[in-house]
Amino acid sequence: MSARNIIIAVDGPAASGKGTLSRRLATQYNLAYLDTGLIYRAVGRAVLDAGTNPGDAVAATKIAEAMQPDALERDGLRTEETGAAASEVAAVPGVRAALLDFQRRFAATPPGGKAGAVLDGRDIGTVICPDADLKLFLMASPEVRASRRASELRDRGEAAIYDAVLASLKARDERDSGRSEAPLLPADDAIRLDTDALDADAVFQIASELTAKIAEAADEAGRS
Ligand code: DC
Repeated sequence: MSARNIIIAVDGPAASGKGTLSRRLATQYNLAYLDTGLIYRAVGRAVLDAGTNPGDAVAATKIAEAMQPDALERDGLRTEETGAAASEVAAVPGVRAALLDFQRRFAATPPGGKAGAVLDGRDIGTVICPDADLKLFLMASPEVRASRRASELRDRGEAAIYDAVLASLKARDERDSGRSEAPLLPADDAIRLDTDALDADAVFQIASELTAKIAEAADEAGRS
């Protein structure tokens, strides 16, 4: 019998280091990785491209319902403009409902015959995978996240003014945490990691030790 599928949920606010950590965990433990923010970004981008207001719930829901997986491959999803639109469409209950099944299916039957999946987002531990084997919640102050995000943008050749990035992050935090549907929230059983004082390697080290234990237990369960 092969090892049981393991699921790791990584939640946290924008620029908290979720993506970097999740990718590294997925590579290290041969797990599939889904950046769920990218799905909301694809909806936000499509809404902007259609010339529609991201706050238009009916239009955003229609676009989310028609979304195909290849929409995640397109350009222009990582910009600040798209991120802000993603945060707006993500507050629409119909959009969230339309995207739920895809995320749950990915976790339950990871592509590529992988041994499990890592999903990162805002509501993975609370709504998408409440039974995840490991739930991590990354935190960092808005100032630390803004300076990380500004240097990321500059590395990609985009102009980035720290004060503007900070203001945009704070607005996004407020929308993502304040919405009524699946707000950004640590699950009761999530392990919280404050990354203000921890660099990416230190966060990975902690998360990797936790994952190793889970992978071992899943392996044992598969053998017995
Ligand atoms: O992780 P990100 O910055 O790429 O996410 C973009 C937006 O998508 C974020 O501001 C809120 C939304 N989002 C969400 O509501 N739920 C998720 N699981 C992931 C992202």
